[in-house]
Amino acid sequence: LGPGIDYFEEIERLKKETDTILLAHYYQEGDIQDVADFIGDSLDLARRAQAVTHKRILFAGVHFMAETAKILNPTKTVLIPDMAAGCSLAESCPPGPFAEFKAAHPDHVVVTYINCTAEIKALSDIICTSTNAVDIVNSIPADQPIIFAPDRYLGAWVSKRANRDMVLWDGSCIVHETFSHKRLVQLKVRHSEAKVVAHPECPPHILDEADFIGSTRKILNFVSDDPATTFIVVTEAGIIHQMKKNEPEKTFIPALNDDENCNCNNCPFMKLNTLEKVYQALLTGQPEIEMSEDLRQRAEKPLLEMLARS
Ligand code: 13P
Ligand code: SF4
Repeated sequence: LGPGIDYFEEIERLKKETDTILLAHYYQEGDIQDVADFIGDSLDLARRAQAVTHKRILFAGVHFMAETAKILNPTKTVLIPDMAAGCSLAESCPPGPFAEFKAAHPDHVVVTYINCTAEIKALSDIICTSTNAVDIVNSIPADQPIIFAPDRYLGAWVSKRANRDMVLWDGSCIVHETFSHKRLVQLKVRHSEAKVVAHPECPPHILDEADFIGSTRKILNFVSDDPATTFIVVTEAGIIHQMKKNEPEKTFIPALNDDENCNCNNCPFMKLNTLEKVYQALLTGQPEIEMSEDLRQRAEKPLLEMLARS
């Protein structure tokens, strides 16, 4: 931390002075989670953003999350600690090719995972998150064909759970698709008492090893409610901070990659945000999320549809 600055104290002071609420995702570094006013998964964060009464929102998460807060709060200033905090899933679905894909599947309802840009949301009929994806798909009449984008692994998992064929866009998350199956099996052998919890953005051969599959919030609830005392965690390692806070007596083991030197269970985009950048954003009111009102309105429609159904 910078010389002479108590970031925790300064962040608390600036939040009050500037009437700013600090929202954070579970994948943020521990210090940011500790200083946040609200921590959640993508669905809870979208819901919380919808209810904000403060003048400003500082969103400690990745760009599509802060953008979602802006879509739901056009009159408020929405800040993000680092504008470069993107998402490989959102990047894997550019608007031009996606519009062509959609045109090649007329009559399909477009269900899109919230991990996408405002342009992709504007091309969608309804948004979902990993918390509500199965319920959203189940809410669509059985004879209605569906496009699911952008995550092919989440799409395949939802397809199986909802017993529903869907046309999948070929996107993926660089963090969840690179967990090592071999090292996961080794961890399971070494900790035979442990339960494996995984995020549905993981590929099927990883999910097959899991005792529980769910969104970040659902995983957090599971490790609290389940009687097991050791868990192997197959999602972004930032979530372990919250697990340890909630369950100090339990043991959490992060899943690994094949490359022993790679810190790959940390999302490189999420981890661009730092406590210092949170402080700087509060101080300067920058960087700010901006978008045209036309795009905002088109992206808002499928988001409100999701919030109404979940
Ligand atoms: P959750 O909605 O489960 O928090 O997931 C967000 C995300 O980016 C997973 O990689
Ligand atoms: Fe995107 Fe994956 Fe990072 Fe989640 S963990 S924000 S899906 S790159």
